[in-house]
Amino acid sequence: MTTPTEAHARPGRSDASGSTAPSGDGSVDGGRTSYPPSAAFVAGAVAHEDLHHAAEADRLQFWADQSRELLDWRTPFTRTLDFDDAPFAKWFDDGTLNVAENCLDRHVRNGLGDRVAIHFEGEPGDTRTITYAELTADVQRAANMLSDLGVVAGDRVVVYMPLIPEAVVAMLAVARLGAIHSVVFGGFSAESLRARIEDAGAKLVVTADGGWRKGAVAPLKPAVDEALEGEGTDSIEHVLVVRRGGNDVTWNERDLWWHDEMAKAAPEHEARAFPSEQPLFILYTSGTTGKPKGIVHTSGGYLTQAAFTHRNVFDMHPETDVYWCTADIGWITGHSYVVYGPLANGVTQVLYEGTPDVPEPGRWWDLVDKYGVTVLYTAPTAVRSAMKAGRQIPDARDLSSLRLLGSVGEPINPEAWHWFRQVIGHDRTPVVDTWWQTETGAIMVSALPGVTQLKPGAAQCPIPGILAEVVDEDGNRVEPGASGLLTIAEPWPSMARGIWHDPDRFIETYWSKFPGRYFAGDGARLDGEGDIWLLGRVDDVMNVSGHRLSTAEIESALVEHDGVAEAAVVGADDKTTGQAIVAFVILTAAAADGVDRAAVSEELRQFVGQRIGAIARPRQVVIVPELPKTRSGKIMRRLLRDAAEGRTVGDTTTLADGGIMAQITELM
Ligand code: WT7
Repeated sequence: MTTPTEAHARPGRSDASGSTAPSGDGSVDGGRTSYPPSAAFVAGAVAHEDLHHAAEADRLQFWADQSRELLDWRTPFTRTLDFDDAPFAKWFDDGTLNVAENCLDRHVRNGLGDRVAIHFEGEPGDTRTITYAELTADVQRAANMLSDLGVVAGDRVVVYMPLIPEAVVAMLAVARLGAIHSVVFGGFSAESLRARIEDAGAKLVVTADGGWRKGAVAPLKPAVDEALEGEGTDSIEHVLVVRRGGNDVTWNERDLWWHDEMAKAAPEHEARAFPSEQPLFILYTSGTTGKPKGIVHTSGGYLTQAAFTHRNVFDMHPETDVYWCTADIGWITGHSYVVYGPLANGVTQVLYEGTPDVPEPGRWWDLVDKYGVTVLYTAPTAVRSAMKAGRQIPDARDLSSLRLLGSVGEPINPEAWHWFRQVIGHDRTPVVDTWWQTETGAIMVSALPGVTQLKPGAAQCPIPGILAEVVDEDGNRVEPGASGLLTIAEPWPSMARGIWHDPDRFIETYWSKFPGRYFAGDGARLDGEGDIWLLGRVDDVMNVSGHRLSTAEIESALVEHDGVAEAAVVGADDKTTGQAIVAFVILTAAAADGVDRAAVSEELRQFVGQRIGAIARPRQVVIVPELPKTRSGKIMRRLLRDAAEGRTVGDTTTLADGGIMAQITELM
C-alpha cells in the first residue's frame, strides 16, 4: 500500500538536533512566524523522526507494530488491513482483545495500580482521586451490574451524563461487555436524546439526576423521562441514575439508582476477549441533512490510533505527566482523549465537571496550578474567551508546570495561538494544532512537538501513517501554494466503520466525491513548504465553539414552529465562538400579523434551544419578508452570510427578486 506519494506526508523541515533551527522567539518564514522545535522536546524528537521513517517505509507494518506495542492482544492478529469491502475497513481483524482491560486491568497487573487515573474536580469544589486500581474495580463492578440488567455484547447503551467519573466508568463497563455505548452530550434536549435512543434501538440509559454547570444544578433525569415518553423508545428497559445534583427526580418503574445496583453487583468481573472489529461506540454528529449520523467505531484499530496519537502528539510520559483535556465525553474529543487514549496509555489526568468561570474566571488556571497539569488540550474558543477575560487572570496563577498545549475543533487564529503560547505557556510550550473529526476517530493532522517547526494557525503535517492530501475538484493533488479539499488517500486504523444502519449514507457522504478517497468536508491550503492550513467546512456544516452543527438541522427545527413558514440558517464569523448561528425566517401569514419582531425572534431562539439543545440556539433570528432565491428556488446562503457578517452583499443578479437583499440588510 506504500506509494511514492507518501513522501508527501513527511515533515521536511524537522531538525531533531535543534542546531540549525532558528532560535529565540520565532522567526518569520514566508511572511508567517514559525517556531523551532522546543528544546524540551529535542530528546524525544529522534524517536518521533523514526516514526515518520518507519511509516514511510511500510505503512501497514508501521500500524501493526504500533498496535502490538501499545495494546495487549488476547489473540494476536496476523492480518493488518482488509479493505476488500471498501470503504468499510477491517483492521487487525483476526485478533481479539478487551478494550476496557487494555485501559485498566493491564496497568494494575503491571504494578501501576496506585497511579492516579483521574483527579476529579466537581464544579462546587468536591474532589475525588481515583487510582487505576480503583477505577478498574469500579468498572468491573459496573460491568457486573450492567450484565445483571441484561446487557450483552452488541447491545446499545445510551450515556447521558455530566462530566463525572461515573460517566467514564459507564463507558468502560459497556466496552468491557462488548456492548456499544452511545454517549449523548448532556446539553442536548430531550428530543435529541429521544431521536438517538430510537435510531440506536438502545436497551438502557445511564444518566444522573443532574450535574453542576455554571453554579447551579442542570437537571438531566427529567429530559430522559421526557424522551422516553416519546415515540420509538420502547427498547429501553431500564434507566440507571447516578446521584450527583441532589435535585428532585420523579421515579418510574424502570428507574434504578446506580449506587443501589452497584452495591448488589459482584465485585470481580472477568473480561472476555472480543474481535478487533467489535463495535465499541456510536456517536451522533451533524451532517448536511436534518438527521444526525450515528458514526460507528470499532475496537482494535480505534484504540491503536487513539493511544498512538495521544502518546506521540502530546509526547506523553505517563510516569510524570498530568494531562488535562477539557472536552466533554459527549464529543469525540472526550471519547478519544479523555477516555480511551489516556487510559490506554496509563496516564494521570484531570477531569473537571464544570465551566471555566465558576466560581470565578480563573478556575481553569487554578486547576492547572493545583494538579500541576503538564499538558493541556483545549479548543480555540476557550482560548479566545480567556483572552477576552484578560491576561491578569492567568498571570495571577502559577502555570509553570505546563510544557505542552494542544488545540482542536476549528482553525486556531494566530492571535489566539500566540496568546495561548505566551500567556498560558510562558513562551516555553509548543502549541500543537490537531485536525481530526468524529469520523476519523483520532488525530490525523498535527505537528509533532520536537520534530516540526510550528506555524501558528496551521495543523501542518499528517501524523505518521496517515495520507492526508489536498486535492482539486477533479481529485488531483494540488501543488504547494494552492488550495483545495482535504482528503485521506488510504484507510487508517481509527476510521469510522460506517453510519449506524445507513451504509449508503456513509458511502455517499464521504466516499463518492472522490472515488477511493475519504472526503473530509473541509477546505485546506498547502503552503509553499507543503504544510496544511485548514480553511473551514465547504458544506453546510457550521462550527460553533468547536462543535459541529448542521444548517439543515436547525432549519428543520425552526419550521416545526407553527409560526414559521420558511427558514434559512447560516454560520457567520464570530470573534469568540468561531462561527455563530444566524437564522433568517419567514413567518406564516397568521403569525406575521401585527407581530412584535423582537419577541418572536427571541421565542424562536428559545424554541431551537429546546428542540436541539442550548448550543444550537441561534445568536440572531432575523424575521424577513422573503429569502434570497434564484429563479429555480435555490436559497443563496452566500448572500445571507454576507448580510450576517455585515459585509457588502455580493452579486445578486441571479436572484428572482433583486431587491430582497437590500430589505434584509435593513432588518439586521
Ligand atoms: C470538524 C470536525 C475533532 C474533535 C472536534 C470536532 C473542524 C477540527 C480542527 C483543526 C481546523 C478543525 C473541521 C472538522 N476541525 N479540528 N485543528 N483545525 N478545523 O469534531 O465535531 O467531528 O468536527 O471540526 O471542520 O471537519 P467534529
